[in-house]
Amino acid sequence: MLKTTKLSLNIVLPLLLVLWCIIAQAATQQEKTPDPFEQNRLLARGVNLGNALEARKEGQMGVVLEDKYFELIKNAGFNSVRIPVRWSAHALPEYPYTIEPAFFDRVDWAVKNTLDRNLRVVLNMHHYRELEENPEKHSKRFLELWQQIAEHYKNYPDSLLLEFLNEPCRKLDAEKWNLLAKQTLNLVRQSNPNRTIVIGPGNWNNLAYLDRLQLPEDDRNIIVTCHYYSPFNFTHQGASWVDADSDQWLGTTWTGTEEQKQDVIKDFDTIDAWAKKNNRPIYIGEFGAYSKADMPSRALWTDFVARQAEERNFNWAYWEFCAGFGIYDRKKNDWNHPLLNALIPPK
Ligand code: BGC
Repeated sequence: MLKTTKLSLNIVLPLLLVLWCIIAQAATQQEKTPDPFEQNRLLARGVNLGNALEARKEGQMGVVLEDKYFELIKNAGFNSVRIPVRWSAHALPEYPYTIEPAFFDRVDWAVKNTLDRNLRVVLNMHHYRELEENPEKHSKRFLELWQQIAEHYKNYPDSLLLEFLNEPCRKLDAEKWNLLAKQTLNLVRQSNPNRTIVIGPGNWNNLAYLDRLQLPEDDRNIIVTCHYYSPFNFTHQGASWVDADSDQWLGTTWTGTEEQKQDVIKDFDTIDAWAKKNNRPIYIGEFGAYSKADMPSRALWTDFVARQAEERNFNWAYWEFCAGFGIYDRKKNDWNHPLLNALIPPK
């Protein structure tokens, strides 16, 4: 009798201990998983440090990041910074696709400068053109790059968010993107179980593609991003990189007519309806109007779009800091005040 009790204790006690460990671990994990709506709220008002680290070589798109930019952004009242990064241009083309350590150092420097100022960071993968052109060939490399990035940042605080891919497009269509995003999430979750992840719909993060975006129901720690550049013939007039003849749009204004406002409202209501139905927080990770448009129109549009986003609890990042859409003029060493005031209205 005594022997049987001892035997069963020998089995039951370790089993209980294992069970307790599993429960405790699950509880801590749950405790540490941030609320994505709160994470999104904290992004609040942000700006993209565009045309810098997403160039093939920093500087080739006109911007080399400087220490003072982070200070300027903080002091102007922004809460977050989105850092676009072209990882694909700084990694071995063949397996094991190693990311250059010096490039990691440079990105780390930008991330640290942002976090040190108590600004939150959305770090993305930007301009992986070869993947957009040939998803079959490049998906494996994309995943291996994420494996390295996720491992590298796994111990960073919650204030670092990772965005899988800027504007999936071309041959990486909505269905292929759904699959690849899911694979990336499974992979990144192994090292970053509590990291808030940013994912947007296909066709250049277009709101019209939200309905085709499939996210795993059981992973709630995701913020959904859309980019907003409507009306395109206004925001991209004279933009040499778009497929259309954008010079014919030069002179297009945005004066905030009732019709123009309603168009924006309708778009934002569409996003909002999707967000409510799917219970996901929304981040407008890019919006902006190119400098070939007139400044009064740019300021009016920027103000209207930012306020529409805020009314619906979407948080945002303006495209971008100091290049063609810039809110900061590097030559004058001064803000483009109408744009800055439109983003962060003076109290
Ligand atoms: C692209 C930029 C472009 C901007 C507006 C961004 O996602 O990376 O190159 O200037 O969209 O078109």
